Amino acid sequence: MELLKERIKIDGESFDGGILNVDSFISHQLDPILMKNIAEEFVKRFEDLNVNKIITIETSGIAPSILLGLALELPVVFVKKIEPKNLDEFYSTQVYSFTKDKTYDIYVNKQYLSEGDNVIFIDDFLANGNAALGVRYLVKEAGANLLGMGFIIEKSFQEGRDRLLNHGIRVESLVRIDWISENSIEFVK
Ligand code: G4P
Ligand code: NA
Ligand code: NA
Repeated sequence: MELLKERIKIDGESFDGGILNVDSFISHQLDPILMKNIAEEFVKRFEDLNVNKIITIETSGIAPSILLGLALELPVVFVKKIEPKNLDEFYSTQVYSFTKDKTYDIYVNKQYLSEGDNVIFIDDFLANGNAALGVRYLVKEAGANLLGMGFIIEKSFQEGRDRLLNHGIRVESLVRIDWISENSIEFVK
């Protein structure tokens, strides 16, 4: 997605250690026009699928998912990271974050994910893929079908993409980044 590449080149801040800061247009302040374009690109990428629900994870996956849900007129379920009171009403699993070096739990209410649902998962970043694989586990627990996963930015130098492909998951990343270092971003050719 050229528009997004250009925006990352102009407004993204890159650091040694492979971190890309997109706070000024995605993660902290966000550009709704860009998000709308991102959602339209996801519509095209997944137009061959018969999806009835979009699933994402808080926080940064919610904005693109809502705009995609609006475009497709589909409900958006967001997986939560805060422990609910009535645990038995939720599917849950543990996720290890490499970026933060800690394990956290994720939760989705059993009411909002059912057998026979055909879902796609949307998130802002694909890094190591742990959050995505955690959500895949919840979808399986519910007996729903995971038809694909869409990411705004894939850090292709981390192992997430290969891990998802190894699980047979269809992966659509709008921008793929080959390498990041201080003040330099190389995209996958
Ligand atoms: P993984 O799920 O792919 O294994 O990723 P990892 O644990 O490494 O990443 C943890 C969090 O950091 C995720 O957000 C992920 O989206 C985000 N992240 C990973 N790499 C980058 C990056 O280079 N730049 C930015 N801005 N974010 C990155 P999260 O903690 O789940 O939280 P939220 O921000 O969506 O609330
Ligand atoms: Na995220
Ligand atoms: Na994030």
